[in-house]
Amino acid sequence: MATRKPFVGGNWKMNTNRSTGSDLARGVVDGLMTLDGVDTCIFPPFPYLLTIRAILRDRGSAVRLGAQDVFHQPDGAFTGEVSIPMLKDCGVQHTLVGHSERRQVIGEKDELINKKARALLEAGCDVVFCVGETLEERQAGHQEIVNARQVRTGLAEIPASLMERLVIAYEPVWAIGTGKTATPQDAQEMHRQIRELIARMYNADVASRVRIIYGGSVKADNAAELFAQPDIDGGLIGGASLKTADFVTIVKAAAEAGRAKP
Ligand code: 13P
Repeated sequence: MATRKPFVGGNWKMNTNRSTGSDLARGVVDGLMTLDGVDTCIFPPFPYLLTIRAILRDRGSAVRLGAQDVFHQPDGAFTGEVSIPMLKDCGVQHTLVGHSERRQVIGEKDELINKKARALLEAGCDVVFCVGETLEERQAGHQEIVNARQVRTGLAEIPASLMERLVIAYEPVWAIGTGKTATPQDAQEMHRQIRELIARMYNADVASRVRIIYGGSVKADNAAELFAQPDIDGGLIGGASLKTADFVTIVKAAAEAGRAKP
């Protein structure tokens, strides 16, 4: 059994409705009923959190509930935003911060992402903190600098004691939704660099414990090879998390990879 328990997230993004999301959640729960050795979390859109929570609870599932974003202020005049207490009230355990679609499409900056991550961790919530370079940045050979900047700024002032609750997701933007998966070797290399950076920012112990998961066109047929890499501790899954059988296969591949690691 690996020292780091694999983690797989299903990021539904702005997809599903109450009916299809419920069917998907039921299928995932039933498909993973007897599985252990992996932490699994699904991230439905905000309006369906309570519906999905009821399904997870009714079936006594170990699958966790996640939110795709949050605002760092506890309450007040922030029209359209959702607070940490609201998410807790809905039974949310893990929250994504800094997803590339928030960075690229909505325009979120490292400083705001850092506020969200800090506020969540200080409130006792779990965070999936996303980083990743664009195609232009990779073509210019800047991927290491870009990911290091996102990690350093995004995790600023987060103490080692809170890192236990944080999962890092490396999601190269050019691989998201494009069908162009990073090769296991390229993904492994970036995960290794991120882990080394965490060791420099914190210490070797924090670095060896933090889970770093890969996202970007993970599918049922390429998951096992990615998750077998020494520094890849699972995945954050977009498109394939909307297909019950594919997502279940991917989660099982992560559990299997975890069992095979020293
Ligand atoms: P795809 O799996 O659809 O490429 O999306 C990855 C992602 O962005 C998960 O957060």
